[in-house]
Amino acid sequence: MDDYRKFLKEVLIPADVLQKRIAELGAEISRDFQGQELLLICILRGGVMFMTDLMRFIDVPVAIDFMAISSYGTGQRESTGQVRITLDLTTNIDGRNILIVEDIVDSGRTLQSVLNLLTTRKPRSLQVCTLLDKADRREVEVPIRYCGFTIPNKFVFGYGLDLDEFYRNLPFIGVVDLDKYPLAK
Ligand code: IMP
Ligand code: MG
Repeated sequence: MDDYRKFLKEVLIPADVLQKRIAELGAEISRDFQGQELLLICILRGGVMFMTDLMRFIDVPVAIDFMAISSYGTGQRESTGQVRITLDLTTNIDGRNILIVEDIVDSGRTLQSVLNLLTTRKPRSLQVCTLLDKADRREVEVPIRYCGFTIPNKFVFGYGLDLDEFYRNLPFIGVVDLDKYPLAK
């Protein structure tokens, strides 16, 4: 894998700006759930960095679990709405306050399927916290309770988001220069 600097067009959200906003989200979540418990559900793998940072800023009792989804018949840039659970929760969510932690909402299809599935398991409450929202790309309406940043329709990477599974470790969100990084599709 190449050094990311070869195809980094611009840093869209620097690390310090991310951290500041995540602290605000954590404070808001803590206020909203005061006196209650919360189960954070991280959607793997993109949500990992965000969840581990976010949970440090939440001061109500928090438990965590993980779920992995894959969409059918797509390259890495689009999802169809046909999703399959590749890793399910180990926690029973019946009667619990659930906050889904996502890296990015694009068409909304992935999130819609996750919400539909989890609703059948009778949580007490079910809400969504996404770091990034590509609002212009939405195809299905999904309720987003907490959003870090609304971003333009550009392909981004870093801070959990990958390019061919790499670069998730970068502490900032960058925009890919598509001329220099031909995405598999
Ligand atoms: P949706 O089902 O179309 O909302 O797609 C959401 C998923 O698409 C995210 O969880 C990401 O895995 C992926 N995705 C969408 N846009 C980007 C991007 O700009 N960079 C990396 N992954 C993305
Ligand atoms: Mg993803």
